[in-house]
Amino acid sequence: MFKIIDKKRLNDSMTWMTLEAPLIAKKVKPGQFIILRIDEKGERIPLTVADFDREKGWVSIIFQKVGKTTMRLDELEVGQSIQDFVGPLGRPTELEGYHRAAVIGGGAGCAIAYPQAKALHNIGVDVDVIAGFRNKDIIILEDEMDQVSNNLYVMTDDGSNGNKGFVTVKLEERLKEGADYDLVIAIGPLPMMRAVCEVTKKWNVKTIVSLNPIMIDGTGMCGGCRVKVGGEMKFACVDGPDFDGHQVDFEEAMRRLSIYKDQEKRAAEDHKC
Ligand code: FES
Repeated sequence: MFKIIDKKRLNDSMTWMTLEAPLIAKKVKPGQFIILRIDEKGERIPLTVADFDREKGWVSIIFQKVGKTTMRLDELEVGQSIQDFVGPLGRPTELEGYHRAAVIGGGAGCAIAYPQAKALHNIGVDVDVIAGFRNKDIIILEDEMDQVSNNLYVMTDDGSNGNKGFVTVKLEERLKEGADYDLVIAIGPLPMMRAVCEVTKKWNVKTIVSLNPIMIDGTGMCGGCRVKVGGEMKFACVDGPDFDGHQVDFEEAMRRLSIYKDQEKRAAEDHKC
């Protein structure tokens, strides 16, 4: 069993949770994920590791209440435990060899963008973080992202924080101003990552995206997480979750992600009743 040792709400739908997981904490690297199961009959869900402490043996995850399992997870409190917490899974993000990076997070994607920015910052890379949210009430991790970046730009779709615009608008503005990024990392909804890739392709900047398809086993056995990259079939759980954004078939990824939408909606509604 894996004990919850800390929990804080980031906004109405997002929660930061820390669990005792010393073996994972010892090995995990930025970009990797875990698969958890609340109890024996629970669904397995993948979540990217948001933070960890090797000495103290804890691992943090950030999740958004979007379905039955995340709603149930959110109902657990400090001191309670979950059944399974398996990892680290996936390949770590390759962060070495860059000088100037832009890390872009869209909404809940900032939960993954933050550890990536932190890891780059810790190895001496100049990092700009561009974070996008629908409105100011759902902004998360602003202080944390500020601490690990040279420049933080928080954008809102409705301009309610005084910075109206999509992350792509700010990215293009920075590139026009002469920001000489040799790496862009984009994490968020698929349409956002696709839009970022359209910009960076024009400017010829290497772009890594983190894909979050449906996963079941997380070990390359079930094929549930397959994505097309550079015309080849890849498994996000073992070949990713990071991929060259300019090679990803976003249309197919979006189609596959919506396959179980109806069932997911029904399960979430049943849980609320
Ligand atoms: Fe089963 Fe990736 S989750 S192959």
